[in-house]
Amino acid sequence: MTNKRPHPPLVAGNWKMHLSSEEAARLASQTAKGALDAPGAELVLIPPFTLLHAVKRVVSDTPVQLGAQNMHWEDKGAYTGEVSALMVKDAGCRYVVLGHSERRHLFGETDAAVNKKTKAALRHGLTPIFCLGETLEERDTGRTFERLGSQFAAGLEGLDVGSVAKVVLAYEPVWAIGTGKTASPQQAQEVHGFLRRSLSERYGKPAADCAIILYGGSVKPDNAFSLFREKDIDGFLVGGASLEAASFLQIAKEALRAHKEKR
Ligand code: 13P
Repeated sequence: MTNKRPHPPLVAGNWKMHLSSEEAARLASQTAKGALDAPGAELVLIPPFTLLHAVKRVVSDTPVQLGAQNMHWEDKGAYTGEVSALMVKDAGCRYVVLGHSERRHLFGETDAAVNKKTKAALRHGLTPIFCLGETLEERDTGRTFERLGSQFAAGLEGLDVGSVAKVVLAYEPVWAIGTGKTASPQQAQEVHGFLRRSLSERYGKPAADCAIILYGGSVKPDNAFSLFREKDIDGFLVGGASLEAASFLQIAKEALRAHKEKR
């Protein structure tokens, strides 16, 4: 637990279910080249499983890191259609996204499954990007913090302080994903502050201070600066805007610019 706040930005591009292998290699190559102009930001590309190898080939000698969008909690076995932490690691990933709202809402992923996956990822030395967020209905009915609190507690259940310190949290309000509606910097900070306090209460201040908490949901070059300037926002999980190298890199640069102001 040595990371000092404010953290330099971690900017991860979740490509979701997009791109051919040719398009992926091109985008990864443009992103890796452009990353040289954003020194100090950690950039992570998170392609679909089938594109991991093509992207790995392109970024392997660059500082750009690789992540997977999901994984199963078992190491191997009769689980048709699934991939394990070992496979994800073998493909070159350092990160894995777990509990994304699209997995929770479209594929019925439960808090208990996310917890098992988080433990499996940590067991194999992967860094989980553990996603949580409220729906519009939950926000409108004043249940935002209740929902986030329960996802937080259930997802991290049974982890000790040392393990929690290795988890990256990602707050992604469901109503902001792919909608063009970003949480305002104040709305995002309110939740990030809540998550950091929850970490502090449960695992102690040093763990809370070193935790990286990302924001995701319609992050674009023109809102990245004001979001990153908030005290408890350490980076972004970017969807749509990561599918173009120019906008993804500009988000990283805006975050770096805001980071300088925070120091
Ligand atoms: P958008 O940036 O497209 O809203 O997606 C956010 C997201 O879900 C990243 O994981």
